[in-house]
This record gives sequence, structure tokens and C-alpha cells, in this order.
Amino acid sequence: MLGCLNENHTIQGRGGFPSLDDRLSNEKNAPAEIEAVRKGFETRGYICNAHIATSIFLAERLQKPLLVEGPPGVGKTELAKATAELVGKPLIRLQCYEGLDEAKALYEWKYGKQLLYTQVLKEKLGDLMAGANGLKESMTRLHDFDDTFFSEEFLEPRPLLKALWQPGGAVLLIDEIDKSDDEFEAFLLELLSDYQISVPELGTIKARTTPIVFLTSNNTREIGDALKRRCLHLYIPFPDTDLEQRIIRSRVPEVEEELRRQLVAFVQGLRALDLKKLPAVSETIDWARTLVLLHARELDADLVRNTLNVLLKFQDDIDNVDGEINALVTKAVQAR
Ligand SMILES: Nc1ncnc2c1ncn2[C@@H]1O[C@H](COP(=O)(O)OP(=O)(O)OP(=O)(O)O)[C@@H](O)[C@H]1O
Ligand SMILES: [Mg+2]
Repeated sequence: MLGCLNENHTIQGRGGFPSLDDRLSNEKNAPAEIEAVRKGFETRGYICNAHIATSIFLAERLQKPLLVEGPPGVGKTELAKATAELVGKPLIRLQCYEGLDEAKALYEWKYGKQLLYTQVLKEKLGDLMAGANGLKESMTRLHDFDDTFFSEEFLEPRPLLKALWQPGGAVLLIDEIDKSDDEFEAFLLELLSDYQISVPELGTIKARTTPIVFLTSNNTREIGDALKRRCLHLYIPFPDTDLEQRIIRSRVPEVEEELRRQLVAFVQGLRALDLKKLPAVSETIDWARTLVLLHARELDADLVRNTLNVLLKFQDDIDNVDGEINALVTKAVQAR
């Protein structure tokens, strides 16, 4: 599917994944397809290197979920959003938290509708039983209605089931999986390996079209081996200078080249220090916008001091950096 990027870098879906033959015959074009993925992201404002583009290409081709790990604010969630745009499919997002359970993630029975149905059934019971030959036949007729009672019609789909039911497929983002409990992680295994779920009253529900699945984690707890085994793994670190400059050029085009070079060099310098929370891409973007608002043309120590709270979120970090600001600014201004 990713092989069908047109010149505008949008996907022309083939209504499913390519056959094995397709995959083998496409093999020679893989580098070009990966480059098309990278460029497709770029036109949508998501700037990445070949490593990330390759992971997306492989996840889609191997039909494997992609587990994306890395520090906060490096673009994990944004990667799933950009992929949904790229493949032209809806993004269905499940935000994980402690206590998240199947009813919130998978489905609920529409109790109200079932209740209404029971009342109608009660009223029609006389008609239904009319002419029934003995208890056995009456029970058989009632059992038929039991089946309707627990049918797909009475299911309220939550994000996971929505993604399986989505006609034409979807991009499913299971965000911050590390915030959920171990039990929820175990519950996901069937979905992640077979793209299906089991509903006790109905049996197995399979995906209509295999979704592209992303899981993200900030590593607040270790993800289990069973889940890791089912996924491709991608670690997104803080970007290097070149990548971060390109991200800023894309996200804050108003910032002039010289200031962009300086501010990125300063942030890179900050990340070499021992801080409670290092500034991420999101903070660099916010800082670039701040400097534009202040009509800054280049960095100086006072400007940095007055705006450092945009980059650093702990007062301890701000205090600790204070003595280093002059040296960091000089280095950033001189960096080429
Ligand atoms: N490679 C990138 N290209 C363009 N924008 C990016 C990139 N990486 C991050 N951003 C921007 O940085 C911000 C934070 O990204 P995102 O929310 O995806 O981070 P995250 O890794 O999911 O963070 P968290 O772990 O806190 O959820 C977004 O506004 C996003 O647009
Ligand atoms: Mg996120």
C-alpha cells in the first residue's frame, strides 16, 4: 500500500495489503518507497530520518504493530497522526490510563436498547407463543430471540473494535500503553497478533481490513516481553542538530535562518547537561515561536534568561542552568 504513493505523496489504497508476490516484486523498489514515505511525511510537516520511514514501511508491509518508545515530546504520537494522513485513513486513538478496561477500550453492550427490546418482546410474547406446540417449541422460539439480544446490533464499539470494523481500515493509536495495567496489556495480545478479538457471547470478531497499529510508551514501566514480541520496535531519541533544524524550519517557518541555527544549537547544548527534564522537540518549537513573538534576531544571555521557562519545566533545572547560560549562548552563536 505504501508502494502506491503518487506524486502528491498520498496513498491510493488497494483495499488491503499486497500479496506475497506483490511484496517480492516490489522488493527492488523498497529504498525508493521508503524515501517516498519520508517525503510524504515531510509534505505533511512531520520531519523524520530514513530510520523512522523504514520502520513505518516495514510495519505496514509485515502487518506488525509498531511499538514507539522514547522520551516525552519527541514526536511519537505525531508519527501515528502523520501516518494516518499519509495513508488517507482515519486515526482511531485509545488513550491509556490506569484502570482502563475492556468496556472502555473494546465494546459495551447497549443496555438501554437491550432493555427496550426486552419490553417490546414482553408485549409481543403472546403473539410469539401463539400456536406453539408444547413447552419445548416455546423455549426454542425464545432462544432465537436470545441470539438477537447478544448480537452485533447491540454492541457499542469502543476504539479497538471501531478500528477492526472500520471499512477500508484505520490507523489505530494505542497511546501511552505504559500507563495501563499489566492485565490490559495481556488483553491486547490477541488483537496485536491476529487482528481479532473475542466477545464471549458472540465468538471471534476479525478485522474487516487489517489496521496499521501504533503503540507508544514513555517507559514509565517496563513493557512485557509477550507484547514486545508481537511488535516492531522503534526508539525515537532526541533529534540531532540537523534534524531538529529541519523540524523547526517546517513548524516555525517565520523564524529566520540564523536565529534558528542558534536556538537549536542552544537546546542541543542544554541536552548535554544533567537536568531533571531535558527539553524535547515540543519545547524547542514553543521556544522558537516565543522568540519570533519577541522579534528576536539572535540569542543573548538576557533573552535566554527571560524565556528559559519555556524550555525547562523545573525551577531546579532553571536555577542549575543559570551559571552556564553565558557559555552556552556564546557556543550557540559561534556554532556553524
Ligand atoms: N519529527 C517531527 N516533525 C515535526 N514535528 C514534530 C516532530 N517531532 C515532534 N514534533 C512536534 O512536537 C510536539 C510533540 O510531539 P508528540 O506529542 O508527538 O510527542 P510525544 O513523543 O508523543 O510526547 P509524549 O510522550 O509526551 O506524549 C508536537 O507538536 C509535534 O508536532
Ligand atoms: Mg504522545
